[in-house]
Amino acid sequence: MANLESLASLAAILILVLVEVAVLSSFAAAQLRPDYYANVCPNLEGIVRYFVKQSMVKSPISAPATLRLFFHDCAVMGCDASVMIISPTGDDEWRNQDDYSLKPEGFQTILDAKAAVDSDLQCRYKVSCADIIALAARESVSQSGGPNYTVELGRYDGKKSTDRSVRLPHPGDNLDSLNAYFSTLGLSQTDMIALSGGHTLGAADCGFFKYRIGGNDQSMNPSFDAQLQGTCAKQNFAFLDDVTPVGFDNFYYRNLQNGRGLLGSDQVLYTDERSRGTVDFYAANQGTFFSDFVIAMTKLGRVGVKTAADGEIRRDCQYPN
Ligand code: HEM
Repeated sequence: MANLESLASLAAILILVLVEVAVLSSFAAAQLRPDYYANVCPNLEGIVRYFVKQSMVKSPISAPATLRLFFHDCAVMGCDASVMIISPTGDDEWRNQDDYSLKPEGFQTILDAKAAVDSDLQCRYKVSCADIIALAARESVSQSGGPNYTVELGRYDGKKSTDRSVRLPHPGDNLDSLNAYFSTLGLSQTDMIALSGGHTLGAADCGFFKYRIGGNDQSMNPSFDAQLQGTCAKQNFAFLDDVTPVGFDNFYYRNLQNGRGLLGSDQVLYTDERSRGTVDFYAANQGTFFSDFVIAMTKLGRVGVKTAADGEIRRDCQYPN
């Protein structure tokens, strides 16, 4: 009897803990708001905007690299800038094989913006690296011709980063795998298709799609196949949207309609009938693509957000305090 009673009270404690965890995690997402830094760092958005612009002037790689960094940050351990941590032991996210192709230009954009934010005495050490990544991603999109949208703020930075925590989608994934992956982030198939439109910017190493060329993939347009064979013989990369590689627009989807998607995970969105309708719709309606992209980026920005209880405002984005 006594055992039963202690089991019941243990169960009650467990339920309380679970409810608390659920409340805390929904609170973590609920704390995000666009004016989070309005009093402590009123110039934040202007500072980040200026430094992203400077980075983009320096290098065309900067905007795509920064946008991709936001995805890889949020998808692993939540949007907590854990992707930027350099661990003295070498056990960190960015050295994982799936993160190793993240370009230095993206990291540098965030470091430059953070240094500028912290050189403003009012803002010093009050703005998280995670929020700077979210703002810099928005700037990379809007300054490339994409939508300019409101970014929710108030994320705390994570205190750790580990190689084994990295789980990311792969360029050979089919629709079911992509959906399964994105659903773990609370994102729908529509969100996933809209976010894949991020591949309107930037490039991929030939190693990620070489297995498709030379007539190996029937979903690839033969003239695109021949073009890529030539490209990869000369250099080691190709543009993800070779019509407008530095412009954020809906050509990514129009390319898919023509069998000119670079990665297998891009082209499958058109090959698979279950997602083709959305691709066709975005290819015909850039405005809807833009608004769905903003919705999906906002949802992505809420993934695994940390609070003062489990995070910190990192002074140096590459090292926990
Ligand atoms: C759907 C699943 C996805 C897969 C399988 C995937 C895979 C890849 C791969 C293999 C590359 C080439 C990397 C390189 O060679 O350096 C790449 C580049 C890129 N990805 Fe994705 N990605 C996915 C989703 C996303 C999302 C959701 C975003 C952001 C919204 C994104 C943004 C980018 C950008 C901007 C680049 C170009 C980076 C650069 O030029 O440095 N990707 N992606």
